[in-house]
Amino acid sequence: MPTTSTDLIAQLERLGGEFAAAIAPLADEQSIRAAQAQYLGKKGQVSDVMKELGRLPPAERPLVGQAANKVKDTIALAVEERLGALAAGRRAADLARAVDLTLPGRPVGGGHLHLLTQVRLELVEIFAEIGFAVAEGPQVETDWHTFEALAIPKDHPARDMQDTFYVADEIVLRTHTSPVQLRTRQTHTPPRRIVAPGVVYRRDDDATHSPMFTQIEGLVVDEGVRVSDLKGVLLHFVNRFYARLTGGAGLDVRLRPSYFPFVEPGVEIDMSCGFCRGAGCRLCKGSGWIEIGGAGMVDPDVFAQVGIDSERYTGFAFGMGIERMAMLRHGVNDIKYYYEGDLRFLDQF
Ligand code: PHE
Repeated sequence: MPTTSTDLIAQLERLGGEFAAAIAPLADEQSIRAAQAQYLGKKGQVSDVMKELGRLPPAERPLVGQAANKVKDTIALAVEERLGALAAGRRAADLARAVDLTLPGRPVGGGHLHLLTQVRLELVEIFAEIGFAVAEGPQVETDWHTFEALAIPKDHPARDMQDTFYVADEIVLRTHTSPVQLRTRQTHTPPRRIVAPGVVYRRDDDATHSPMFTQIEGLVVDEGVRVSDLKGVLLHFVNRFYARLTGGAGLDVRLRPSYFPFVEPGVEIDMSCGFCRGAGCRLCKGSGWIEIGGAGMVDPDVFAQVGIDSERYTGFAFGMGIERMAMLRHGVNDIKYYYEGDLRFLDQF
């Protein structure tokens, strides 16, 4: 039987009618698109019908072409409608889920300064209250500033390879903040009152020592500076810094004779134990006192290194470990907690 245009148009219309029914049970976009390709693709059913077009007299072909275009539109529309209906179904399901609008929102975690940074800023503030300015020096320091000019000669045990990281000949990672004493004395004339908080390095690693840690150095140079001034400054500091721990009860400071090559006399700084109020506990190892740093009166030989007249000026210096101060105040029992970046620890402060 010869194909007629009426036949072809009827076939096309039938395909258009079938399509909507064919995709009605499909519930995902992928299978709907696959069905669309089955009808409209190069090897699809509509194309099959169109292949018959060649057999028609040319005058009838446009009619069939129009019918084919109409089928394509019908199919495209059916796809859109079906996809729209699916999306609306999903939205309705979402809305139907019970949502309790009175529940609190998820907390958004805010960042904050690291405990050591907080403590460092607080220390600077406490010393600023009594007239200290902040000074800084490099962490990679000359041997001269770190040791030589502080009367620590080449054969001094403090320089032992066990303690000091050498960067090059005569260049070290500073093992203490005391080189800042020299740097400020080189650039500033007395009177001078500075604190220098900063990172220092030593080859040391256990529960209370880390190869990198932080110290705060203090230096006062003026006419008539005495050991009693040193003690007064330290009393102010410990009582401000540990005020919350002791609930306002006064802490005492004692200076115990010791030796640092660049001070004379040299002392270890002890404060009375804020935990047991001097009765003796685990933290102070039963003694009632806790060591917090070293200090002393600046040795005249050290003044001479930077051209300060030691007949006219005297001064004191002190150095304390910031990690240790924070450990005592917050009951941190291992120095490595500071550096591990564990938020469960850091977020407590
Ligand atoms: N720099 C010394 C240390 O790190 C501490 C100190 C500083 C001692 C100032 C006396 C004076 O051990």
